[in-house]
Amino acid sequence: MLDKINEVGASKATFYDLLGGEQGGTAAIRELVETFYDIMDTDKKAAPIRAMHPADLTASREKLFMFLTGWTGGPQLYIERYGHPFLRRRHLPFSIDESARDQWMYCMISAMHQLKMDEKLMQKLAEQLYGVADFMRNQ
Ligand code: HEM
Repeated sequence: MLDKINEVGASKATFYDLLGGEQGGTAAIRELVETFYDIMDTDKKAAPIRAMHPADLTASREKLFMFLTGWTGGPQLYIERYGHPFLRRRHLPFSIDESARDQWMYCMISAMHQLKMDEKLMQKLAEQLYGVADFMRNQ
C-alpha cells in the first residue's frame, strides 16, 4: 500500500486506484462525499458555507461525487454529463474567502478521519484538495 501511495505523482497509481479502483474506488468516493455533506449539514463550524448551498443537498452530493470520481482518475462522470466543469467560474457567485475554504477543508478532513482513511493517503489527498479549494477563493 505505501509503495503504491508513493507512486502518486509519478503518474502510476491514481488516487482512484488507491481508493480501491474498479473494485471499490467509486464506493469509497461516494462514502466520502456523503460523509462530507453530512458533516457540512450538521457541524456548526461549517454553518456559513452550508448556508451557501441549497436546502436539499441531493444534487450537490451527486455532482461532487461525479466530479471527484473523474478528478481522482476514475471515470469522467461529471464531464460526460455536464461537460467541462469550469469549477472556479461556477463558484464565482459565492463569496469564498479563507474562512470558507478552511470550512470546506474541515468538512473534508473530518470525513476522511471518520472513515478511517489510510493516513498517508489522507494527507496526499487533502494536500491536493487544498490546492483546488484555495483556487476557488475569490475574496
Ligand atoms: C473552497 C470552498 C468551497 C465552497 C464554499 C464551495 C461551495 C459551493 C457551492 C455553494 C456550490 C453550489 C451549490 C451546489 O451545486 O452544490 C458548489 C458547487 C460545486 N462545488 Fe464547490 N465549494 C468549495 C470548494 C470546492 C472544491 C474544492 C471542489 C472540488 C474539489 C468543489 C466542487 C464543486 C462542484 C463539482 C460543484 C457543482 C458544480 C455544478 O453546478 O455543476 N467545490 N460549491
